[in-house]
Amino acid sequence: MGEVQLELTVDGATRRVSADPDAPLLDVLRQGLGLCGPRFGCGLGLCGACMVLIDGQARTSCDYPAQAAAGAQVTTAEGLGTEDAMHAVQQAFLDEQAAQCGYCTSGMLIAAAALLSRNPDPTQAEVREALEPNLCRCGIHGRIVRAVLRAGAYLRDAPVLLAGPAPFTPAQPPPVAAGPDHAPAMPASLTANPQLAGWLDLSAEGVVTVSTGKVELGQGIWTALAQVAAEELDVALARVQVAPVRTDASPDEGATTGSRSVEESGRALRQACAQARLLLLGAAAAKLATDPGALAVADGQILHRGTPTGLSYWSLAAPGLLARDAGPAVPAKAAGRWSVSGRSAPRLDLPGKVTGQPSFIHDVVLAGMLSGRVIRPPGRAAALTALAHAELPPGAVAVRDGSFLGVVAPGDRAAWRAARTLARAASWAPGVPLPDEHDLKQFLLSSPSEAVTVDRAEDTSAAGRTAQWVSAEYSRPFIAHASLAPSCGLARWDAAPAGGGGVTVWTHSQGVFGLRDAIASGLGLDAGRVTVHFVQGAGCYGHNGADDAALDAVLLARAVPGRPVRVAWSREDEMGWSPFGPAMLARLSAGLDAEGRVTSWRQDVWSNGFLGRPGIAGEARLLGLASLAGQPIPPAVDGPPTGTIGSTRNAVPGYDVGDREVVRHRLLTMPLRTSSLRSLGAFLNVFAIESFMDELASAAGADPVAFRLNHLSDPRARRVVEAVAESADWASRPDTDGTGYGVGYARYKGVAGYCAAVAEVVADTEVHVRRLWLAVDVGRVINPDGVLSQAEGGAVQATSWVLTERVGFSRSQVTSLNWDTYPILRFSEVPQVSVRLVGSAADPESGAGELAQGPVAGAIGNAVADALGVRVRDLPFTHDQVARALTRR
Ligand code: FES
Repeated sequence: MGEVQLELTVDGATRRVSADPDAPLLDVLRQGLGLCGPRFGCGLGLCGACMVLIDGQARTSCDYPAQAAAGAQVTTAEGLGTEDAMHAVQQAFLDEQAAQCGYCTSGMLIAAAALLSRNPDPTQAEVREALEPNLCRCGIHGRIVRAVLRAGAYLRDAPVLLAGPAPFTPAQPPPVAAGPDHAPAMPASLTANPQLAGWLDLSAEGVVTVSTGKVELGQGIWTALAQVAAEELDVALARVQVAPVRTDASPDEGATTGSRSVEESGRALRQACAQARLLLLGAAAAKLATDPGALAVADGQILHRGTPTGLSYWSLAAPGLLARDAGPAVPAKAAGRWSVSGRSAPRLDLPGKVTGQPSFIHDVVLAGMLSGRVIRPPGRAAALTALAHAELPPGAVAVRDGSFLGVVAPGDRAAWRAARTLARAASWAPGVPLPDEHDLKQFLLSSPSEAVTVDRAEDTSAAGRTAQWVSAEYSRPFIAHASLAPSCGLARWDAAPAGGGGVTVWTHSQGVFGLRDAIASGLGLDAGRVTVHFVQGAGCYGHNGADDAALDAVLLARAVPGRPVRVAWSREDEMGWSPFGPAMLARLSAGLDAEGRVTSWRQDVWSNGFLGRPGIAGEARLLGLASLAGQPIPPAVDGPPTGTIGSTRNAVPGYDVGDREVVRHRLLTMPLRTSSLRSLGAFLNVFAIESFMDELASAAGADPVAFRLNHLSDPRARRVVEAVAESADWASRPDTDGTGYGVGYARYKGVAGYCAAVAEVVADTEVHVRRLWLAVDVGRVINPDGVLSQAEGGAVQATSWVLTERVGFSRSQVTSLNWDTYPILRFSEVPQVSVRLVGSAADPESGAGELAQGPVAGAIGNAVADALGVRVRDLPFTHDQVARALTRR
């Protein structure tokens, strides 16, 4: 099909571009004009990521014909303002830190700018209404609403363009608590990657470049790590940069998972910086012929008894000084003496994201780059049996290997057209049949499974005291990651990989090292020939399609050696082919004595495994490799049954419950591919335990908070439960028809951060969560605002899982392929979330990214039972599910 010449007015400038006559405006803006602000999310105008202003009206550009924009004024996020002269909405988003991954941000800014141009003083309800077409998967809605209201105030009081960024003021002051000197133990990441130069580089004057193996997923880890380095080295935070993560240069710290980045990379970096500081001061002392104890550091400059010496880290960092292994651990600074770490700091990556700068893997453009597409089969593990002749567009190359079928073409639209043509030419044998979507319990209970005891504790003192027995079952469906951006990968296959060439990959994977090894083993390459670069993607909540998209790019790049190939999945690929969080069933029974104390507890959990990342248990586990081999991906494993990982995570109750037995039933077949999703089994296990605790409290005639406290001896656990009850004014909660209050609590993994939640819901057959209060203890905190943001986002995402989310499928295919068939919470449905930090710096740090999922689910479940007088035990709480529970009343 021939191209047409278009003349568009974009961000105030006239631009001429040739494009397909049917091309959407988004394609022309991104590929034709090289703009990055409008971002692809769904292709159907359902998520708002691609929003632009067209003659002042906010409009999705993925479903807007480019030709229709001729003659109109088009404004993108880049056109709103720059880092030196920001639009009020951009400035307000920074001031509220109203982003996590930032993939939704451009669209939010455009929707907000359109609203404020017609109504500079909107109410909160008007802001939510204006943002209703825009989705945020990270759950940061509350901050976005506050940012828009703040932008309105800026616009009323100041010129549109502000000389930002302004000083950051956190919405809530951080807790101030002194802590002890850190125990001088060597962190495991530093032991595994001992060379100091692997963590720290001072070769650029005035700049401290730190390296980490942990990747930025929108959780703010790179800002927190920069704070750690700034603190230990006594330099300004602005001097610290975080080096890009790549397998040939970064410390191998495994995958960025399980809320362990602060514990692992933070501790390693702190110790590496503490040792580097000592080395540098030693070098300064030698030059000055003085005692190192007489020296101090101020922003990298060396002082002698308070007087500048003219020496600095950068003048002292001779080549080789840091090229040595870490020595015995030295004391790092005590938390009570911190000046950068422990205080809220604005995210380093947000200014570029709010001004629409290239920030994501989807924005990477390499010289000579081609576009690739993979044709997915009509069913799981369906085999490609024949491929008829297909007339492809000029320059397009079909790639077929086993049941892997793809195409490389010059440009995204050409690749998309060629893929459609090839799909019509392909014949497939049927794949693996899927279970009955409407009878997941039967699927879980009847599938072959392996039972193993997770925990057993005998308490003979309880024998004979049991006065009554209570039992119940709780379930969750398969849940999708549903990242706001479909997965994307790039690769270049250089000549003769076995004898001097290599494969270079760009990915947003959580585990670049595991991906490198899986690609190498899957394709028979030496791992040293494969280099994987991390580039940020949209928010990632576990093992999604990032690794598979990267391998797709490798397999297609292999067909065009020397040319980089970019594979951008469609929304349908993302929702249909990324791994899911598995469906689960928990069956609980417990005894109560006459005083209302739990005497015994039995819990059985059925689930597929949660561990399906590339390389786990020696299997590559990549979609493309499975197609090459014509074999399904092996069932996900689940890790040791410790109660801390896989489906057993948080399966062991944190309460004092007497006689106790917990059993895992891991399914041995995997019709739908499962893997890690935020919090793993903790979401269902905590939902089940917390729902059951309320059922037990009810049987005992006890108040739910008092009942929990009566079974909690851990002081930190008691503190979060008491704090959240105080925040929500639990004792004085109103008793109103249709409104309910519920509480939930868990210590994440049984060994990490503590979280308690209270939910306020309004419910009939529809459930609306109006408010959530959280109390969180993650021990020592590096960036309090970052912890608050993570807890808020986790709480909103958990609310979405509880209320609406369920993967739909027929007997052959996933059917929930876009936001209309897999809805997530929109602004009108998002609760108001208040988070209170109650931890002490005396306790070791732990992550905050996943600890809200379970307690929030439990709190909502209990609030719904309080509102309706009926318990809904199967997630999600859709109209049908609630109506079914009501009819059973
Ligand atoms: Fe909104 Fe990530 S910040 S999708």
